[in-house]
Amino acid sequence: MGKIKKALITGITGQDGSYLSEFLLKKNYQVYGLVRRVALEDESHRLWRIKHILKKIKLNSASLESYASIVKIIQKIKPDEIYHLGAQSYVAYSFEDEFSTLNTNINGTHYILSAIKDFSPKSKFYFAGSSEMFGKVQKNKQDEKTRFYPRSAYGISKVAGFELTRNYREAYKIFACTGILFNHESPRRGFEFVTRKISSSVAKIKLGKQKTLQLGNIYAKRDWGHAKDYVEAMWLMLQQKKPEDFVIGTGKMHSVKDFAKLAFSIVGLNYKKYIRFNKNLLRPSEVDTLKANYNKAKKNLKWKPKTNFTQLVKEMVKEDLNFFK
Ligand code: NAP
Ligand code: GDD
Repeated sequence: MGKIKKALITGITGQDGSYLSEFLLKKNYQVYGLVRRVALEDESHRLWRIKHILKKIKLNSASLESYASIVKIIQKIKPDEIYHLGAQSYVAYSFEDEFSTLNTNINGTHYILSAIKDFSPKSKFYFAGSSEMFGKVQKNKQDEKTRFYPRSAYGISKVAGFELTRNYREAYKIFACTGILFNHESPRRGFEFVTRKISSSVAKIKLGKQKTLQLGNIYAKRDWGHAKDYVEAMWLMLQQKKPEDFVIGTGKMHSVKDFAKLAFSIVGLNYKKYIRFNKNLLRPSEVDTLKANYNKAKKNLKWKPKTNFTQLVKEMVKEDLNFFK
C-alpha cells in the first residue's frame, strides 16, 4: 500500500470544500481543513456542510488574513496537495465591501503561495479561479486564452490570485494551477446565491411559508453545473504531470428567468405569479453572460460534467422541499 496523501483545504466549510472533502476521503486521503476560529465555536451553524464527516477530517484554526497562522499549519502538515477555496465568494457583497474582499482574496492567496515556497515547496497548489474573471466577455465562449475583463472587486481579486499563482509557478517552480470554474450549484449552495434563493423560495412558497420571490436582473445568463462534478476536476488538475490552468463548465447557458421558470414548474406553479422585480438587487456593473469552452479539460483531464441543467434544478428544489417541510 502506498503512502497516505495529505490534503489541506481552505474554505472546507463551504459548498465546494464539503464535496471535495468527501471526494478525497473516498480516495483515502488524510484531509485537513483550515477554518476560522469562530467556526469551531459555532459548530451547529458554521460546520453544517461537513458535520457528517467531522470525525474523519482534521480542522485547524487560522485566518486568511494572517500569514503567520497559515505558515504554522503548512509547516506542520506539509501537505501533498493544497486546495485554496477560502474566499469572500459573494459577488454582490464585493460591491459593498471592496476592501475586505480584496484583502482576504488577494492576500490570503499570496500568503499561502509564499508559505509553500518557503516551508513546503513540494506541496501542489490549486487556486479557485472563477469565470467572473471573464466578466464583460470578450468571446462568445470563454476558454483559457480568453482575455479577462472583471466587473467587480471579487472578479479583480480572482484575476490577481490567478496571476500570483502563475508567477509562483514560473518564478519558483511550484506546482501551482488555477481552475477557472464557471458557476456550480447544489443543495449545499449558500442561500444568498440566486439558484439557492430560487430553489428555497419555491419550496417555501409551495409549503405556504412565503408569498413572493424578489429578484434583480433575471436576464443574466450563466453556465450552471453541479459542484459535485466540479471538485473532481480540481483533483484531476493536481494529478497531471505539469501544472496548467483549466476552464471548467458545461458549455450550456441559461438565464435566471429560465432557472426560476423550471424551478416553479417542478412544483406545479407558474413563476409569473410569484416573482417580483427589486431594483436594489441590481449590481453597479453586471456580468451579462458566461459560457465555457472546456475542450482543454475534456482532452487533457478526460473530464466532463455529469449533471445537466434540469437534473440540477430538480435536485435543488426536491432537497429544499424536504429541508423546509
Ligand atoms: P462558499 O460556499 O462561499 O465557501 C467559501 C469558504 O471560504 C467558506 O468555507 C468560508 O468560511 C471561507 N472563508 C471566507 N472568508 C474567509 C476568511 N476570511 N478566512 C478563512 N476562510 C474564509 O464558496 P464555494 O461556492 O464553495 O466556492 C469555493 C471557492 O471557489 C471560492 O473561492 C469561490 O470564490 C470559488 N468559486 C466558486 C464558484 C461557484 O460557482 N461556487 C465558481 C468559481 C469560483 P466560513 O464558513 O467561515 O464563512
Ligand atoms: N444573488 C442574486 N440574488 N443574484 C441575482 C438575483 C438575486 O436576487 N437576481 C438576479 N441575480 C443575478 C445576478 O445579478 C447575477 O447576474 C446572477 O443572478 C448570478 O448571481 P449569483 O448567484 O450571486 O452568482 P454570481 O454569478 O454572481 O457568482 C457566482 O459564480 C461565480 C462564477 O461565475 C459565485 O459563486 C462566485 O463566487 C463565482 O466565482
